[in-house]
Amino acid sequence: MKRHILITGGAGFIGSHVVRRFVRKYPDYMIVNLDKLTYAGNLVNLRDVEKAANYKFVRGDIGDRELLCTLFHEHSIDGVIHLAAESHVDRSIRDPLLFARTNVLGTLTLLQAAREAWEGASAGARRFHHVSTDEVYGALKDGEAAFSETTRYDPHSPYAASKAGSDHFVRAYHDTYGLPVVLTHCSNNYGPYQFPEKLIPLCIRNICAGELLPIYGKGDHVRDWLHVEDHAEAIDEVFHRGRDGESYNIGGINEWKNIDVIKLLIRIVDEELGNAPGSSEKLITHITDRAGHDPRYAINAQKLREELGWFPKHSFESGLRETVRWYLTHEQWMTDVTSGAYERYYEEMYSGRG
Ligand code: NAD
Ligand code: TYD
Repeated sequence: MKRHILITGGAGFIGSHVVRRFVRKYPDYMIVNLDKLTYAGNLVNLRDVEKAANYKFVRGDIGDRELLCTLFHEHSIDGVIHLAAESHVDRSIRDPLLFARTNVLGTLTLLQAAREAWEGASAGARRFHHVSTDEVYGALKDGEAAFSETTRYDPHSPYAASKAGSDHFVRAYHDTYGLPVVLTHCSNNYGPYQFPEKLIPLCIRNICAGELLPIYGKGDHVRDWLHVEDHAEAIDEVFHRGRDGESYNIGGINEWKNIDVIKLLIRIVDEELGNAPGSSEKLITHITDRAGHDPRYAINAQKLREELGWFPKHSFESGLRETVRWYLTHEQWMTDVTSGAYERYYEEMYSGRG
């Protein structure tokens, strides 16, 4: 079936992998990528698909009602995969209002546009997929079981609270107006094209540059890590085959203490660079802990496995090594992202184009 899918936040880290996957795998689909190109949006991430006949980029804000109305009608949008968000916890601590505006109000505006555009259409042919996070569930203690889809919401950071708020609106639109929705809650992603403010690309960059590796507190906080392509595959499965109104957890069954992730990264990067083993360990620097830092996240993704047969394909160590190699062979990407030069790419490639 030909579909017209609006992917929001497609120039970001995860969004770019989802866009690439859909553009390549579904040549019959039209993929419209709506992205505001904040500091986290980078069109260079999509250079390899930007000229595909089934792809269109639109620069714009998910909070712009008029633009959304035009896009839904001009492109006969029948599916939405919503990734656009402010995504970094530390930034949310500094500027919580921005997170409420983008993640809560932006999502609400998008839901309303979908509702208006799809009024009267049969639900079977429409779908609004909201991409959320495991952070809405709060924190687990050592020895406590993993988050399931029925775990009570208990967000702590402004980022998690804003994502929880958007989740509630998505469910409200399903229950009140019958909007066909699915939600996914994923654990921490890693892989190519991740902005180097997040732990893994930040540490790869700093090990290469011989700069300090800042670890919050003792480094004993635990995260579940999943390769971004496994996440994109899970989104594909849930978007196409997930049950209406349901939530699905996505995770790597791959819990690591932060300090151990950093030590593994040091080993891999030192090996790849031909440094003496462990020579970068001296860069590890314990700094003041993040406020409200959740001690542990872990995901029970059994529902996704049982209903849709999805499971993660990348092992952590080989996925991490492949990721390190990607960053080492994309030095210019890292330089442009850290200097801000990538922001010029849009002006050069897209301004003046329809
Ligand atoms: P990212 O910060 O790399 O990308 C976000 C994208 O959204 C950027 O391209 C940005 O330009 C765009 N954007 C921001 N505000 C916008 C607006 N108002 N209108 C249009 N576009 C806007 O984020 P990411 O890590 O790729 O995360 C994508 C989604 O996945 C987010 O919703 C996030 O909450 C969720 N998620 C992320 C992770 C993770 O580990 N990174 C894990 C689980 C869930
Ligand atoms: P991050 O990549 O920011 O993702 P999230 O906060 O969404 O889990 O951080 C992953 C873990 O690494 C988290 O426990 C915080 C920690 N961390 C550090 O110790 N130092 C850092 O410089 C960063 C960015 C994160």
